[in-house]
Amino acid sequence: MKNISFKPLKDIKRATLLVLFLVTLASCSDDKPKTKNAKDMLITGQITADLTSPPKVPVPIGDRKAKKLIVNMEILEQEGTMTDGVKYIYWTFGGSVPGSFIRTRVGDEVEFTLSNHPDNKLPHNIDLHAVTGPGGGAESSFVAPGHEKTFSFKTLNPGLYVYHCATAPVGMHIANGMYGLILVEPEGGLPPVDKEYYVMQGDFYTKGANGERGLQAFDMQKAVNEDADYVVFNGKVNGLTGDNALTANVGETVRIFMGNGGPNLVSSFHVIGEIFDRVFVEGGTLVNKNVQTTLIPAGGAAMVEFQVDVPGTLVLVDHSIFRAFNKGALGMLKVSGEEDEKVYSGTQMEGIYLPEGSGIQTMPSTATAKEEAPQELSLAERLNLGKSVYQQTCFACHQPEGQGIPGIFPPLAKADYLNADVDRAIDVVLHGKSGEITVNGTKYNSVMTKQTLTDTEVASVLTFVYNNWGNSKKEVTSAMVKSRRNAK
Ligand code: CU
Repeated sequence: MKNISFKPLKDIKRATLLVLFLVTLASCSDDKPKTKNAKDMLITGQITADLTSPPKVPVPIGDRKAKKLIVNMEILEQEGTMTDGVKYIYWTFGGSVPGSFIRTRVGDEVEFTLSNHPDNKLPHNIDLHAVTGPGGGAESSFVAPGHEKTFSFKTLNPGLYVYHCATAPVGMHIANGMYGLILVEPEGGLPPVDKEYYVMQGDFYTKGANGERGLQAFDMQKAVNEDADYVVFNGKVNGLTGDNALTANVGETVRIFMGNGGPNLVSSFHVIGEIFDRVFVEGGTLVNKNVQTTLIPAGGAAMVEFQVDVPGTLVLVDHSIFRAFNKGALGMLKVSGEEDEKVYSGTQMEGIYLPEGSGIQTMPSTATAKEEAPQELSLAERLNLGKSVYQQTCFACHQPEGQGIPGIFPPLAKADYLNADVDRAIDVVLHGKSGEITVNGTKYNSVMTKQTLTDTEVASVLTFVYNNWGNSKKEVTSAMVKSRRNAK
């Protein structure tokens, strides 16, 4: 009987619970079938994707229907500038860091062809986080120099996704610049804005200290230690300042597709002098509003949008602030137009961050110019030079201790194939090698490209390899290399 007096209250509770349940159900059913629908979505016709290098992005998809989208991307290993006087060999998707921007919509069937330029030294592949499938495409796209691979996938989930190379050593391929963004727009497209830009942060690890001049090689130990020499936007110091600065006019809404290639560091992305009106958190569907700094994980992204209200220079930074002012993670967005004193009336001084931001402060360098290698080096000199050649040229495939990668790249340590025939070893370095070989009883069928090294470098790297890891301690001289080079 007592219960009866409580019944109305219980009914209210029940009704409230029912409403909550239905709301939850509705929001679930709103999310789930989207993915399912995308899978079953029919495609009408075929187009070739227009790919862009940063900071440009392709035109919005608008209301176009789902289509077969042909993407052709070429991998290029090329020398570029890290900062004034500092060169670096970048490995790139499409010739830029970050790689070409790919713009698709949900339900598209992407036919992706990855080609590896014949002049490249290494095999590569691509793992797109937008792919539902093994390795994000990595397993289907592993491609040697001079070859191409095609695979297909359907874009099921809208969002902004990172892609990257996933060839061992994965960290090294990413650290050399092999990452980019692929945008999967929702049905009907993202809301239109006035300006769209493509920016990615990345951390770099060089043999020399920050600012040390010359061509800098990748430093594996620093990368393992996560001790970055450079943390930059769009692949280099000043990638987004001076002539490279982004631009907008007062009153415009700016959308930045912001990614982080890593390989190691997360980005506390902030724009000095602005507040993000909207952040598509982690590049997904959730929108946060009125955000000062948003965290971009390594291998993650976000879309940030803001209207610019007053003229001046906005400064893009990783708010882990030494990275901005001392390692390069600093970019600029120049806003022109009329002052609006209702919004801001302080002194406007463009370039306020330039004294620090335009260049990296360094201690005086003790680097000396690389001397021309003499005709014939001593054994100690060859071992020394050989080690550095090995670290730049060979170790990505054959690994730091010459152990190779099982099933893919043969070992050099205690390798019968290597120790049996020194002339053959010289020939392989000079002319490359493809087709099946057997090393220590295991068959390998990979491609080693012809190396562009001097006779002294070839002699040194082979002497280094022969005198390490349990090998035969043979010495190779540049005269021996010269005679093999002239033999054909
Ligand atoms: Cu790669």
